[in-house]
Amino acid sequence: MTLTATGLSVVHSGRTLLHPVTLSIAAGERIGLVGASGSGKSTLGNALVDELSSQGVSVAHVPQSPDEALDPLRSMAFQWHEAERALNQQPDPTRQQQLFSALQIEGGDLLKRPWGWSRGMQQRFVISMALIGTPALLVLDEPTSALDPVVAANTMDLLDAVLGQSDNQTAMLLITHDLWLAARRVSRLLVMEGGQIAEDAPTADILERPRTGAAQVLASHRSWLSLPCS
Ligand SMILES: Nc1ncnc2c1ncn2[C@@H]1O[C@H](COP(=O)(O)OP(=O)(O)O)[C@@H](O)[C@H]1O
Ligand SMILES: [Mg+2]
Repeated sequence: MTLTATGLSVVHSGRTLLHPVTLSIAAGERIGLVGASGSGKSTLGNALVDELSSQGVSVAHVPQSPDEALDPLRSMAFQWHEAERALNQQPDPTRQQQLFSALQIEGGDLLKRPWGWSRGMQQRFVISMALIGTPALLVLDEPTSALDPVVAANTMDLLDAVLGQSDNQTAMLLITHDLWLAARRVSRLLVMEGGQIAEDAPTADILERPRTGAAQVLASHRSWLSLPCS
């Protein structure tokens, strides 16, 4: 099923934060939403989540820091059960086991509160929680920028493996200021600038022939993680 949001826009105190945009996302499609800080990426991501949710589409949202998603006073087990309840899902230990194994957090003590887990494990827990209900779209807003680069890359690799399974129908919108983090993981890129989508094209086209200034600036800053290791 293709997801479509028509005429998304955001105006705040008379200032246009998001100019009208229409977006279609194919089932299982993986898209990167890139642009400089303040270009409107989170504004678009949030507007998209709101619009698709109002259409009854199941959308999951992973914020930048696990602190925004986890209650510091509650055990991890409690948070998992709350997420299942919010999604009207019966407790499903098999599904939980599958997700924990996919995100490599089987070793985490569910009786502990978030601070008993490392940041990387907390964020992988949040990602696995987001996948409980097999959403039609997973929106990840700078999901690894609070993690060190190696843990960040590992986390994205694990998520790639889950989404890369042949029967996967969950689409992904990966929001990041790091073009090179997104480039290896998505087939299509949206480049934002000043609250507008400046470019919307296959990843390779934007890397090889960035047309707009916004895309050229992003493409000229290579991340060391994308360099060959040998
Ligand atoms: N709730 C808000 N009220 C007023 N301005 C906002 C609000 N949220 C974001 N903005 C402004 O909208 C612009 C885009 O912000 P944002 O979507 O957070 O950018 P990005 O995620 O690309 O860094 C920025 O200029 C920011 O200051
Ligand atoms: Mg943002």
